[in-house]
Amino acid sequence: SLNGFDHYMLKEIYEQPESIRNAMRGRLDDQDATAVFGGLNLTPQQLRSVERIVLTGCGTSWHSALVGEYLIEELARIPVSVEYASELRYRNPPMENNTLVFGITQSGETADTLAALRETKRKGHRTLAICNVVASSIAQAADGGVYLHAGPEIGVASTKAYTSQCCVLAMLALYFGRTRHMSYEGGKRLIEELRRLPAAVQQALTTDEQVRDVAKKYCNATNFLYLGRQYNFPTALEGALKLKEISYIHAEGYPAAEMKHGPIALVDKDTPSLFIVPRGTTHDKVMANMEEVKARGGPIIAVASHDDPHIEAIADDVIRVPSVQEFLQPIVTVVPLQLLSYHIALLRGCDVDKPRNLAKSVTVE
Ligand code: M6R
Repeated sequence: SLNGFDHYMLKEIYEQPESIRNAMRGRLDDQDATAVFGGLNLTPQQLRSVERIVLTGCGTSWHSALVGEYLIEELARIPVSVEYASELRYRNPPMENNTLVFGITQSGETADTLAALRETKRKGHRTLAICNVVASSIAQAADGGVYLHAGPEIGVASTKAYTSQCCVLAMLALYFGRTRHMSYEGGKRLIEELRRLPAAVQQALTTDEQVRDVAKKYCNATNFLYLGRQYNFPTALEGALKLKEISYIHAEGYPAAEMKHGPIALVDKDTPSLFIVPRGTTHDKVMANMEEVKARGGPIIAVASHDDPHIEAIADDVIRVPSVQEFLQPIVTVVPLQLLSYHIALLRGCDVDKPRNLAKSVTVE
């Protein structure tokens, strides 16, 4: 049921502190400072011998794969490649013997993801699923995997499944990291950061009113740019996809620094740029990109850290989110972007839970 919410999408956005908690329940091991998973079905030898990880999926699940790539490479130092399932199934790339493949999917029924997993499995690679729906086709076809435990996601726009996927990928990075170079102390710190997430997401939800005002201001735009770097490059793609899907506004996501290689030509007074610019390694570089947009008369919305002192000087609208470690930021910064697409869609009279031309799961090629 809708539990007092107007739409499933909004209800599911608000469920995220709880769905993230459920993704972590029973999976953080303080004793060994690692993560534990019941269903990976990997022996310690198999685990140790993994030389490459392939993450595959479609749409929003492909975006979480991009977050996973950054996480696993940084925390576990295992090379990762991210593949669109629809491309992987026909591309026939060479894959080393010790390649582990993860199919990421909310529904577990996406035809391309299922086909990509079957193909890699047929070639003898260990094939696992990161999936929400228990006993779905992909969960059954895989050699093992991790369930999201996010509860049913009804809104066509994926929200809570995405943040849970990112959370599971962070725990997998911890798990793989701890079988390799990551110290006990390092594992401990990561677990502490993960435990702070539900409260941080709760805090990010309090931006709702303010996001609604931003939505009012920009709901008649016909183009939007979403820009972020590093861990928040996938956030930019995800924010743009949410807006396209349910508001039918053309939006593009880019790594912020790519802007000057083309997309900046789109900037004018009617094209808002949304920058995801929390504190972190590339913060100052992204601020410089914001200056470039401002100089060309483009309106700027910034999703920034709660204590960023300089942001108001450049951005027209600032949405502040709590600070978390850089590698967990996407789980927090995506929340106002989900809310923005929701409010803009409502203001434009769109059917947020059932956007035109789309189905909840894409079971055809
Ligand atoms: O169920 P899946 O995660 O496999 O679905 C993949 C995509 O179809 C899905 O994420 C789609 O992009 C969503 N509508 C995005 O909100």
